[in-house]
Amino acid sequence: MAIRKIAQMGEPVLRRKAELIDPGRIGSTAIQTLIDDMIETMHDADGAGLAAPQVYESLQLCVIEVGKNPRYPQFEPIPLTVLINPVVTPLVGTEGVLAPEDSFQMYEGCLSVPGMRGQVARARKVRVQALDRAGGALDFVWESFRAVVVQHETDHLLGTLYVDRADPKTLTFLREYERFVPSDSRIRDRGKALVSS
Ligand code: NI
Repeated sequence: MAIRKIAQMGEPVLRRKAELIDPGRIGSTAIQTLIDDMIETMHDADGAGLAAPQVYESLQLCVIEVGKNPRYPQFEPIPLTVLINPVVTPLVGTEGVLAPEDSFQMYEGCLSVPGMRGQVARARKVRVQALDRAGGALDFVWESFRAVVVQHETDHLLGTLYVDRADPKTLTFLREYERFVPSDSRIRDRGKALVSS
């Protein structure tokens, strides 16, 4: 296993649509090593997820894991999840338009855009279909925080960064985020503020 370099915003690989992985290749040493390296890199960087293009591999693969976060005790941890060739379908909204009750809004960050946060409104409920690292089929529904994380990571596989979707006036450096963004405006679920307990 190895920690890989994380591509920073401006690297062309972050803007390409990643290639599908042939299911017959999932068991290969190259793919299994890449998955292990991505997990190690995500842990080392303290990220909630990591997509293969972020480590210069233009492949439809991402990993997600969130431990207990004392800043957001209302969110259940997300177990380690490996998604290959994922398809994410919003289960709310019409034609991509989200009413407040369909949305989960939070300030997102990204290992490829370090030191910044910005507020993004995302579908609060999505269906996820993918293959796992053994090639088995996954099909599940994620809501709220989990829905945000999986949409952020799978956006990377399409060449999209959260800054493309953020309200530009909310973009803030991390120090200023901690100083000036009140905790009751950091997360909005169905249009209503979700305050950390
Ligand atoms: Ni990211």
